[in-house]
Amino acid sequence: MFDHHSREYADGWKSIYAAARGSGCPVIHSENYGGFHVLTRYADVVAAAADYRALSSERSFDDRGQDVGLGTTIPPRPVRLGNLEMDPPVSTLYRRLMNKWFTRAAIERGRARVQEIARWSLGRYSAGAEVDMVGDLAGPFQRMLLFDLVGLPLDRWLGYREESGHAPASDFPADDGLLPGERRAIERARFFGFLADSLRAEVIHQREHGGTGIIADLATAEVNGDLLPLEIVNELAVMLVAGGDETTVSTITSTVLHLYRHPEERARLAADPALLGAAVDEVLRYCSPALTSARNVVAPCSYAGRDFVPGERLLLSWASANFDESTFAEPDTVDLGRTPNRHVAFGVGPHRCIGAILAKTAAECFLEELLRVSPDYEVLEDRIRPAYGDIARFNGWDSLPIRLCPRYSGGIYPGLPELTEARIAP
Ligand code: HEM
Repeated sequence: MFDHHSREYADGWKSIYAAARGSGCPVIHSENYGGFHVLTRYADVVAAAADYRALSSERSFDDRGQDVGLGTTIPPRPVRLGNLEMDPPVSTLYRRLMNKWFTRAAIERGRARVQEIARWSLGRYSAGAEVDMVGDLAGPFQRMLLFDLVGLPLDRWLGYREESGHAPASDFPADDGLLPGERRAIERARFFGFLADSLRAEVIHQREHGGTGIIADLATAEVNGDLLPLEIVNELAVMLVAGGDETTVSTITSTVLHLYRHPEERARLAADPALLGAAVDEVLRYCSPALTSARNVVAPCSYAGRDFVPGERLLLSWASANFDESTFAEPDTVDLGRTPNRHVAFGVGPHRCIGAILAKTAAECFLEELLRVSPDYEVLEDRIRPAYGDIARFNGWDSLPIRLCPRYSGGIYPGLPELTEARIAP
């Protein structure tokens, strides 16, 4: 029985989806978690993601705290995650308030800042050091970047790292009678509680005193003459910090591994960093960090020749769409120069990732710096740990140790960075 939280799925999602796409019935049915269907073909996934009137993302509760809207995960998240789990027009309203921070122009203006944070994250280690891509390099880099953007004290990421479950996820224990996804939902509830609590004080403070990032902007934004409720500002901040982290770290880390295994590609990109943009897109297609998102049927609709009725749940598989032979020539080949590359790793439709340009720029800047200071890094393959226990949330790595090469020229920043470049701003 299909379970996108299971070990079998972690090991074999590509072949599970390929079999479904190639069959006469490209919709997978599962009885797990109350029952749901999975759309696997590119055209169906794209059409369903645009169809927000029939397929809702809404996460909501009644007065007694009982589930009403089930949101974008199966099983549902214990808390709503900002406009990601609302429907238009409300979701669009909040999205519009944040959009200006994520435009190409804003991110390009802040590129030097992103590069500086990349220099800091790599510059903390010396030649020959064995460091973890996730815990020591890309993780701190991306968290520092996110905290800088939303306007949180930069030392806060240390505590966040400990709580965020970068320790290996509970790897499918089977003796408590819970499905793996149910157990992960409990673990995530703890983490969301920590994150919401730790950001709340900051939201209140920044409403009073202002600040430099998105939190202060939202805390002082007015809609129809009213300030946003503090809890909404808090929820949006949690969404940004939680949504922008492991997905980007996974993209960077997957690229580092691919380039290690393909030295000729690594040399090509090191010699010409302008090629990194297309390379990152192809890694996003091939290693999609967010494999699926859920939707809830609220009006009759049909996909892949099957009718759906209100009350049913669908899982849109971005990952399966990214391997659809009808859209991508030779989808099982990693072609780092692939053009066009209309992958849906960032989703599509009204909820398409707001942080897509930021994520790609972050990955490009980090990889360019790594290839500059340590082009012959070595991945310690026998110690790699995929994040299998978290596979439904993100397809990435718990740990991927590397050895920085002797030519490494970092080692400049011992502690927190003194950032001097202009930050990302609207
Ligand atoms: C490689 C990195 C990333 C990947 C693969 C990714 C993937 C996705 C996907 C698939 C969605 C659509 C979900 C749905 O339709 O239900 C999404 C939405 C979203 N992402 Fe990302 N994301 C990444 C990075 C980021 C970053 C860096 C941020 C912000 C700092 C971010 C913030 C968001 C937000 C706020 C939404 C909800 C947008 C809305 O509903 O309007 N993401 N992301």
